[in-house]
Amino acid sequence: MAKIITLTLNPSIDKSTKVDALIPEQKLRCESPTFEPGGGGINVSRALKRLGSPSIALYLSGGHQGDFFNELIAKENIDSFPFRISGNTRENMIVLETGTNKQYRFGMEGPKIEETEWKDLLWEITKQKNVDFIVASGSLCPGLPVDFYAELAEISRQIGAKFVLDTSGPALNAAANKGVFLLKPNIGELANMCGMEEIRTEQVQEKALEIINRGKCEIVAVSLGAQGAIMVTKDKYVHIAAPIVKKRSTVGAGDSMVAGMVFQLSQNKSIKETIMMGVACGSAATMNYGTELCKLEDVNTLFQWIETHGIVEIK
Ligand SMILES: Nc1ncnc2c1ncn2[C@@H]1O[C@H](COP(=O)(O)OP(=O)(O)OP(=O)(O)O)[C@@H](O)[C@H]1O
Ligand SMILES: [Mg+2]
Repeated sequence: MAKIITLTLNPSIDKSTKVDALIPEQKLRCESPTFEPGGGGINVSRALKRLGSPSIALYLSGGHQGDFFNELIAKENIDSFPFRISGNTRENMIVLETGTNKQYRFGMEGPKIEETEWKDLLWEITKQKNVDFIVASGSLCPGLPVDFYAELAEISRQIGAKFVLDTSGPALNAAANKGVFLLKPNIGELANMCGMEEIRTEQVQEKALEIINRGKCEIVAVSLGAQGAIMVTKDKYVHIAAPIVKKRSTVGAGDSMVAGMVFQLSQNKSIKETIMMGVACGSAATMNYGTELCKLEDVNTLFQWIETHGIVEIK
């Protein structure tokens, strides 16, 4: 079985509650909160588990909040590797206003990471043995250099692991220029990488190939929301349509999609089967409320639909 490590640099305790109405200047009576471990890599590990694949969730953890986060992860039954930092793990707040059924998501800034801490973290990864995939998802936190993921790309290459990255902004550009095995920008992030306002579907292959050639990346998977996704390699192009589903929340769709693709790649599946599974997992995630990820039963149903109806173009 492949060894997969997911990395979450800026995890959060997601605290969810409900209130009748969000009214300023008043004491608001909220329901008893629920707590969930959140963060890109953590979500990828949770989704991989649903697909039947183990992974090790490596994440930064600090303070009492970090201890609580570790407890939440332990309940998920995923192998974890908390990397201790001096700052406090952040807590995000999600409030459902029941009167309007609107969800408000308050994201806090993560703790500042000291230089010695991130250097130790990279050193720790350098020492890992027999790793097949390193999957990093999510934003950098304060104190981390913009080329942190670029350095990780280099380390992954040194230890013989395939580096999969889902992030945005300058950190994404820096890593792409260094060379990543698989990049998963959404179409807006791809446009941003290319310094463009927007990109049309017909332009995706050309732009993805520019990234592949410039940074020696192997695969670029561009997610298109309800339009599905396009996977581009040096010599292949596959466009898969997303099934029409009853959309409840798109939170975590990207991470479920990454999990689906890594799951297939870890079993040496083809580019076509990889992107079909990515779309099936992403779309399955949107069928659930809140931060709930893809369910295996939905993934299987959607994958079957995609096999017969979802292939838009292959070249
Ligand atoms: N409205 C939708 N209907 C069906 N499938 C969807 C919808 N939105 C997203 N998906 C599925 O999820 C995948 C990833 O979605 P999207 O392109 O929105 O990623 P993203 O912007 O990176 O998401 P995230 O906000 O999680 O980072 C899509 O390729 C598709 O399979
Ligand atoms: Mg995303």
